[in-house]
Amino acid sequence: MAKKTVRTGLIGAGFSAAFHYEALQKVAGVDVDVVGVYARTPQRAAAFAQKCGIRYFDRLEALLEAVDVVHICTPPYAHTALAIAALEQNKHVICEKPLTGYFGDGSADFHWDRADMELARSEAMEKVQQLLEAEARSQARLFYAENWIYAPSIQKEREILEKTGGQILWMHGEEAHSGSHSVDYAYAARCGGGVLIGKGCHPLTAALYLKRVEGRARDGRPIRPRQVTARTHALTRLPTFRDAGHIRCDYYDIDDFAFMHVEFEDGTLATVFTSDIVLGGVHNWLEICANNHRTICNINPNTAMLTYNPREEYFRDIYTVEKIGTKQGWNFTSPDEDWMTGYPQEMEAFYRSIATGRPAESDLHLAADAIVTMYSAYVSARRSGVAVEIPLL
Ligand SMILES: NC(=O)c1ccc[n+]([C@@H]2O[C@H](COP(=O)([O-])OP(=O)(O)OC[C@H]3O[C@@H](n4cnc5c(N)ncnc54)[C@H](O)[C@@H]3O)[C@@H](O)[C@H]2O)c1
Repeated sequence: MAKKTVRTGLIGAGFSAAFHYEALQKVAGVDVDVVGVYARTPQRAAAFAQKCGIRYFDRLEALLEAVDVVHICTPPYAHTALAIAALEQNKHVICEKPLTGYFGDGSADFHWDRADMELARSEAMEKVQQLLEAEARSQARLFYAENWIYAPSIQKEREILEKTGGQILWMHGEEAHSGSHSVDYAYAARCGGGVLIGKGCHPLTAALYLKRVEGRARDGRPIRPRQVTARTHALTRLPTFRDAGHIRCDYYDIDDFAFMHVEFEDGTLATVFTSDIVLGGVHNWLEICANNHRTICNINPNTAMLTYNPREEYFRDIYTVEKIGTKQGWNFTSPDEDWMTGYPQEMEAFYRSIATGRPAESDLHLAADAIVTMYSAYVSARRSGVAVEIPLL
């Protein structure tokens, strides 16, 4: 029997749209037809369309009419309205992280350091609620593109938890590097905050996911977060910061260092560090300390491959690994970085869910818990780290 073709479209034509497009080429088991792209910057979108051999749409409505699924690959401030517009047309949504957030009061001089974090949390929660309601009204679903959930090491840990009935007592992890490439990233009003949400969302959501898996495997219900303590800092905005040229430091109002310490409803813990001040490539890992095993998930770097290159110029045309400062000497060269990161696996899983109607591992409810936890973390950080209850939706 011929497989049904799923028609899909991309919204956004930048960094994440490119890796979504790459991952879509690898989806097996479902025929995916990437129809076209729409983005706010027409020139960039038209160039992207030409490069990929897909159609350029100059209107969102026209793209929505032509597809069954849209990938939201825009800065976070645009996610909610785009997702609701698609769900209202019964089009499935694959939405990049973070799902949504608080994007300021619209004033020209809005500054995150002066913003009210209680208000930030309530407005972010209001948007999450709108998305939950839009999905409930729609015949389509929202899939949350948190690639850490589909990274092979995190999925292996899922299997260990499900088969051994282990109890996670403490997780600790990190996502860090030397600064995002995105211009929008410098402004909290475009991204919903700083590194706490922009990068911290990855290890945090993986930790929330694994406690969800543990609870469902043992007792048939997820174990959810209850309380959070957090600190945020802006190290590259300190008057004492000395720029040596290796770390991005042109941020307007974002935090570039944060940690969150989460207590779950069973009293167990997760501690997440995240920053934009770490040299030597992307540092993404999660360690799980359970009552019956211990796992270290090294997403990046990992030792799947090591290269020694005596001269920089030999590797001039060779991509080794993301955000590494030099290719000379020993390198954690990644033979298939996207696979280690979970990008192709998440796309395949979403399209299989769309084709079969089965639930996805990374869904709107997981994204909702992550958003409420992170904005509660910002409330805590504004109070220098007092423990704050997480008012889950
Ligand atoms: N999962 C990951 O590993 C990962 C990595 C990078 C970025 N991201 C996420 O991807 C999203 C986009 O980031 P990026 O790095 O691709 O940004 P980018 O700046 O490279 O590209 C953003 C694109 O969105 C378009 N755009 C902006 N506002 C729009 C709107 N209102 N309507 C339509 N198009 C609009 C821009 O024209 C541009 O083409 C963010 O949510 C970011 O957090 C995820």
